[in-house]
Amino acid sequence: MATLELRNVNKTYGAGLPDTLKNIELSIKEGEFLILVGPSGCGKSTLMNCIAGLENITGGAIMIGDQDVSGMSPKDRDIAMVFQSYALYPTMSVRENIEFGLKIRKMPQADIDAEVARVAKLLQIEHLLNRKPGQLSGGQQQRVAMGRALARRPKIYLFDEPLSNLDAKLRVEMRTEMKLMHQRLKTTTVYVTHDQIEAMTLGDKVAVMKDGIIQQFGTPKQIYNDPANLFVASFIGSPPMNFIPLRLQRKDGRLVALLDSGQARCELPMSMNDAGLEDREVILGLRPEQIVLASGDAAGLLPTIRAEVQVTEPTGPDTLVFVTLNESKVCCRLAPDIAPAVGETLTLQFDPAKVLLFDAKTGERLGVLAPSQSVENMGNVTRLNRN
Ligand SMILES: Nc1ncnc2c1ncn2[C@@H]1O[C@H](COP(=O)(O)OP(=O)(O)OP(=O)(O)O)[C@@H](O)[C@H]1O
Ligand SMILES: [Mg+2]
Repeated sequence: MATLELRNVNKTYGAGLPDTLKNIELSIKEGEFLILVGPSGCGKSTLMNCIAGLENITGGAIMIGDQDVSGMSPKDRDIAMVFQSYALYPTMSVRENIEFGLKIRKMPQADIDAEVARVAKLLQIEHLLNRKPGQLSGGQQQRVAMGRALARRPKIYLFDEPLSNLDAKLRVEMRTEMKLMHQRLKTTTVYVTHDQIEAMTLGDKVAVMKDGIIQQFGTPKQIYNDPANLFVASFIGSPPMNFIPLRLQRKDGRLVALLDSGQARCELPMSMNDAGLEDREVILGLRPEQIVLASGDAAGLLPTIRAEVQVTEPTGPDTLVFVTLNESKVCCRLAPDIAPAVGETLTLQFDPAKVLLFDAKTGERLGVLAPSQSVENMGNVTRLNRN
């Protein structure tokens, strides 16, 4: 177990090529679980390979514990990695693949057998131990690759999309197993995923990457509730955050956003009151679950608008209802027992303190949440605080 710290890490694959990793600053404590998310090609696997020592960094330093491992060979870093491509030894059986790292470390055979049995049971591959990788499905190969890493007790685990090829049911099961295992072993872990739920549920910390740059580094809650910019806000959350472009106006000394459903209008008072925001093109961000049906108690307290239902999507646990506000399609996540007909008019409410504002040109966040919800420790993210 060890801390992991990336200090201003840069990586370029060759002269004349653009930097694949740009000034990466990340640090996780011993035993923490870091999730890396970002679109395809943003540099996640490159970063994993650099941490493992399979790629050289071209600037900065990688610290494991208090040791600078930047120039060290992979085998000296004491890391176990699950590659996105599995990278199993094709001529070895599943059992031999899992045993390999343990034999190299000269573990007694009885302990190796116990370890193989343990991970094979965990990963539901007991019946495959004598097969060769070529005789397995993609999802089975992926579980063998997991088994090979989990059989070891390294300082750090690196998992590059380890569950991506599993069917939906097994994936959910394995997610819970990963969490249980991490709670038990508390091994420092870096985990790449495209899955929102994995990112939110497994991570102690989440780093959102784009074009080789960390856009935000924080707890899952910070990333979800207090995204640093439009990219982070749009990347995390399913169904995604609603974005409504508009200009803020001043009314009776307060900044307001005017919402128009075609049937009715509503003024959302902004919690920030900076003169620089007046008449500025902004994008208002509102998560689907923050729009509620007007109910008796809160009816007089929160801004209210009537809007016509365009489409409904009953998902089981929720009903997603789509309306149009300011010519933008807006998704409202309502309770499953609410089943409005298309064309019906609903009365919706918003808590203005939960509304996020972004600069329409740069995508940067304007202002922060209400003080009670503001966060400490935003990592290396620079933000405009216009409260
Ligand atoms: N060996 C290499 N030589 C040159 N460029 C590379 C090499 N490996 C990766 N790249 C480039 O670096 C960028 C980042 O690739 P990387 O594999 O790290 O992305 P990723 O975030 O893991 O994407 P995905 O989600 O698709 O796995 C891409 O533009 C890729 O084409
Ligand atoms: Mg990758």
